[in-house]
Amino acid sequence: MKILLTGASGQLGTELIPRLQKLGEVMPVDLDCAACISKRCRPLDMTDGGALETVLNRFQPDLVVNAGAFTAVDLAEKAPRTAFAVNAEAPGRMARWVSRNDAFLMHYSTDYIFDGYKHEPYLETDLPEPLNVYGESKLAGERAIEASGCRHVIIRTSWVYSGHGNNFVLSMLALGRRGLELNVVNDQVGCPTWARNLADVSMQLVKKGLARRKPLQGLVHYCDADRMSWHDFARLVFDSAIKQGLLETMPRLNSVKSSQYPQIANRPAWSVLDTALAQSHGIVPARLKTSLEQCLKELPRE
Ligand SMILES: NC(=O)c1ccc[n+]([C@@H]2O[C@H](COP(=O)([O-])OP(=O)(O)OC[C@H]3O[C@@H](n4cnc5c(N)ncnc54)[C@H](OP(=O)(O)O)[C@@H]3O)[C@@H](O)[C@H]2O)c1
Repeated sequence: MKILLTGASGQLGTELIPRLQKLGEVMPVDLDCAACISKRCRPLDMTDGGALETVLNRFQPDLVVNAGAFTAVDLAEKAPRTAFAVNAEAPGRMARWVSRNDAFLMHYSTDYIFDGYKHEPYLETDLPEPLNVYGESKLAGERAIEASGCRHVIIRTSWVYSGHGNNFVLSMLALGRRGLELNVVNDQVGCPTWARNLADVSMQLVKKGLARRKPLQGLVHYCDADRMSWHDFARLVFDSAIKQGLLETMPRLNSVKSSQYPQIANRPAWSVLDTALAQSHGIVPARLKTSLEQCLKELPRE
């Protein structure tokens, strides 16, 4: 099997590379390959439609895994055209190619397509109502894929962290090490998800998508098992980091409301995804504490 992996140097892409290599021949691509763990990574700007089509036509993948995305939520408000080009137009182009060539597309979307007013875990069938440009662009990506009629699975996930890249865990750790007093919001609740767990689940779901009999198709929610606020997540990060000798003392951590911590993009107050559908396919959501501890354990010591 030939597999095109976009976003190969991102949080998820990094974890997917070794797993996809067990399935077939992987061609990793990204905007910038410098941080990629694969020497085979080739630069590709997904917003360049001609370049994307050329890669697809030359490589002729059986499976396209689109882990590439414009994930800077605040920046997306200032650069909506780029956000839509990466998160909506490029997946749409991939999906149409996949449809024409009878391949399969694995794609990722976000809890931020919901407005967060539900206060119960969001189902795949709940009505999306994004509050920000990032969410709008990701929703447009989902719809472009669905409209193409291609064989696909879209995993909606939330609050992704890993041992590299830009994420909340590494930011908290860096700020904590500088001894800064931190204000972290307590009124946004979600399920932090380790990129490695998401990669493992992707492998389980892609195999079900590729199955000959009753293949899985469409939207599936996956996030790790435990829900909490960003504030409580920060405390857990610091507790685990101190336990592992990554941090000497607990930073001063203040619990604040979103209104006291203005950000450029609005964010949903409630970002919890219901994973019952994934669980009906044999997926067991991983526990946060053990995942976070393992992630921190693998960080290089200073
Ligand atoms: N991170 C989260 O909290 C989160 C939450 C919910 C859903 N998701 C979804 O999960 C998926 C994986 O996210 P992630 O956390 O692994 O994201 P990530 O670490 O930001 O990785 C995305 C990759 O895509 C690349 N990219 C950006 N613009 C591109 C372009 N024009 N052409 C080619 N590549 C481009 C990025 O390169 P640069 O770094 O150079 O820009 C980066 O390497 C995405 O679909 C995301 O929307 C993420």
